[in-house]
Amino acid sequence: MTENRSSRALITGATGFVGSRLAQRLVSKGWDVHVIVRPTSKLEQLENIKSRLKIYEHDGSTEQLENIVSAANLDIVFHLASLFLAQHQSKDVVPLIQSNVQFGTQLVEAMVQNGVYQLVNTGTSWQHYENQDYSPVCLYAATKQAFEMLLRFYLEITPLKVVTLKLFDTYGPNDPRPKLFRLLKTVAERQEPLAMSPGEQLIDLVYIDDVIDAYLIAAERLQTGLTCNHERYAVSLGRPVSLKELVNTYEQVTGKKLPIRWGGRPYRPREVMVPWNTGEKLPGWESRIALLEGIKRVIADG
Ligand SMILES: NC(=O)c1ccc[n+]([C@@H]2O[C@H](COP(=O)([O-])OP(=O)(O)OC[C@H]3O[C@@H](n4cnc5c(N)ncnc54)[C@H](OP(=O)(O)O)[C@@H]3O)[C@@H](O)[C@H]2O)c1
Repeated sequence: MTENRSSRALITGATGFVGSRLAQRLVSKGWDVHVIVRPTSKLEQLENIKSRLKIYEHDGSTEQLENIVSAANLDIVFHLASLFLAQHQSKDVVPLIQSNVQFGTQLVEAMVQNGVYQLVNTGTSWQHYENQDYSPVCLYAATKQAFEMLLRFYLEITPLKVVTLKLFDTYGPNDPRPKLFRLLKTVAERQEPLAMSPGEQLIDLVYIDDVIDAYLIAAERLQTGLTCNHERYAVSLGRPVSLKELVNTYEQVTGKKLPIRWGGRPYRPREVMVPWNTGEKLPGWESRIALLEGIKRVIADG
């Protein structure tokens, strides 16, 4: 990976798990990092680098976003902002479209109006249920696909270039999201029985540092002109393990047996039993942190 000390980047979703780690990495590499937050955003994940960021509060309008992109004088945009819901209710339809389709479209409009033509976008393996070219696991995944379809318009009428990184499950220390490892930690501490599905579903976990490597490689592809139009890559180790095996490894590392009642609840509708495994790998990317090492790091950091 080449160092690029003068690059000016905008990150959306920088208050989230992946976005905050990306912001930290870019700052540490000397990038000029700009982030967009909402009036309601909590900046805790950015606390240690806040003084080194330019932070813009978006009021929801396209016009203000255009002003932000103009003021930032950007080379590249990393778009990670998203609302993730594994299952939705009727009340979630508008927020899902707003975060995953409307905001992204406003962003790209603001980019092209300001002559910013390099975008690293974030998709999900869940756009490919049962290994299909397109089959959304849930409405969230459908909105990710919808945004890619919208990008097509801008790709056809402007010099925009896009790399979409399709993420799988990500994990790492101090993850604020209510994901598996936080759940296991609580179960280990309280020793209260937890009903889980039968646990045969395979999970493809990627350690956060490896995920961030992928964003840097994607940026380099754009900056060196390797990307012609819209490239899509799977950011996956390709070595999924079952939920049961994962819990077993967690138990081994912590030395604590977890009181899990396997089969105590059914699988989710459209549970992903085998993660998408036919996506193109990002050239030059490989995982540096194996699952066992990653789990050890998660546990070591509390
Ligand atoms: N992590 C995974 O395992 C995984 C797997 C597949 C795909 N992905 C994708 O990877 C990206 C990062 O995921 P993550 O887990 O880091 O997400 P996360 O922790 O849930 O953070 C989501 C971020 O998006 C921002 N956001 C949501 N709606 C917004 C809007 N309308 N306007 C501006 N900002 C908005 C949030 O800002 P606030 O602070 O204001 O809420 C937050 O910064 C997402 O695109 C996600 O879909 C993640």
